[in-house]
Amino acid sequence: MGNLKLQTMGRHLRGTLIMPGDKSISHRAVMLGSIASGDTRIHNLLDSQDVNSTITAMSNLGVTFEYDGADLIVHGKSLATLTEPKQVLNMENSGTSARLLMGLLAKQPFTLTFRGDSSLSKRPFARVIKPLMAMGVSFVTKNDRLPVTKLATKKLKGISYELPVASAQVKSAIILAALQADETTTIIEPIPTRDHTERMLASFGISVKRVENRMIVEPQTHLIATTIQVPGDISSAAYWLIAALLVPDSDLTLKQVGVNPTRTGIISILTRMGASFEFAAEQTIGEPIADIRVQSQTLHGTTVTATDVPTMIDEMPLIVLAATQAKGDTLITGASELHVKESDRIATVTTQLNKLGAHIEAKEDGFYVHGDTPLHVTKPTVIDSCGDHRVGMMLAIAALITTGEVSLARADAVNISYPKFFKDLDEVLS
Ligand code: S3P
Repeated sequence: MGNLKLQTMGRHLRGTLIMPGDKSISHRAVMLGSIASGDTRIHNLLDSQDVNSTITAMSNLGVTFEYDGADLIVHGKSLATLTEPKQVLNMENSGTSARLLMGLLAKQPFTLTFRGDSSLSKRPFARVIKPLMAMGVSFVTKNDRLPVTKLATKKLKGISYELPVASAQVKSAIILAALQADETTTIIEPIPTRDHTERMLASFGISVKRVENRMIVEPQTHLIATTIQVPGDISSAAYWLIAALLVPDSDLTLKQVGVNPTRTGIISILTRMGASFEFAAEQTIGEPIADIRVQSQTLHGTTVTATDVPTMIDEMPLIVLAATQAKGDTLITGASELHVKESDRIATVTTQLNKLGAHIEAKEDGFYVHGDTPLHVTKPTVIDSCGDHRVGMMLAIAALITTGEVSLARADAVNISYPKFFKDLDEVLS
């Protein structure tokens, strides 16, 4: 794909968009549906490359899937009847598939090899390998990077484990393995992270007890098939929240967005920056959802610290963009996890936005963003998603407030989480 010429300064964003299904929740629905007894119906499953990595992996283990209109039906197989795959499990770009499946498949009595694309092969796996080894799993790996081979496992031990990084992927991998252990497992989470695994397990009849920052997981593997309605992805809605706030004379409504409090850091931080939102049609479908209306507003700088980070980790590129347009400066700390996302987001966000005239300083664990800096290029400029979906979409929003000619390299990265991003953009530009 060549570079994509981006729409720059000059049009407004108006209208209503229905958000695609939440990526985190879609992965979990496919995984748990796969190991439940009976058929699980998933409504509004995200159709994207990352979720397809999970579906393909489970198909390779003998699970069958079928579409009924827009719904995906998962013909569940119990954990005990999954079959040895004939091939290596290719996780492609998907960290969530790789890490959660290592936990889910920890006790399979055969060898499994996980591989990924060049981005995923640079990302750390010691964070899941270490606790799973403590539970009795053996792995073969070089430098704790993919490819990783998990050896046949007969028994899993319960453990007590304090998460060294605030990561829902690691927490979820341990929970999924702990359900299959011989004893109780306790997971201590110093900073709360997204609780979609816990909520989704409850929908399949499995309860994980939480006492303050401890999760107590009892052995239990009988999941009952169910119907899951996947909420719209707040991480996808976030592009439009920022776009409407920053592009003058905009007014957007985003329908059926998941507003789980472990994911709404973007709303809290923008509120702190002076923004206000209208919420309507609030209801709970296993997860809380709402319609969110947002209009153009003036923002001011803020401070973001470690406790904010897990609630908006994937929206950080957008907060940095918002901060470039806010009155005053913004300091973001406690975000060193950004180095190990689909790209090193501290580096990629800083380099690419600074090409548009932003004034951002990269820090070891975050950013210092100089506020109220008009974005402007004097000659045709190519910005690069760096193969990272979230960086690519944030840059497409940044272009909307840039004067001059801008195009985006590797725009197809959007297919990882939001394949109809550019179609939605066209629909609301007026
Ligand atoms: C995810 C958790 C987060 C997030 C990722 C999805 C999940 O990763 O960045 O996009 O579905 O559990 P970490 O748990 O590694 O922070």
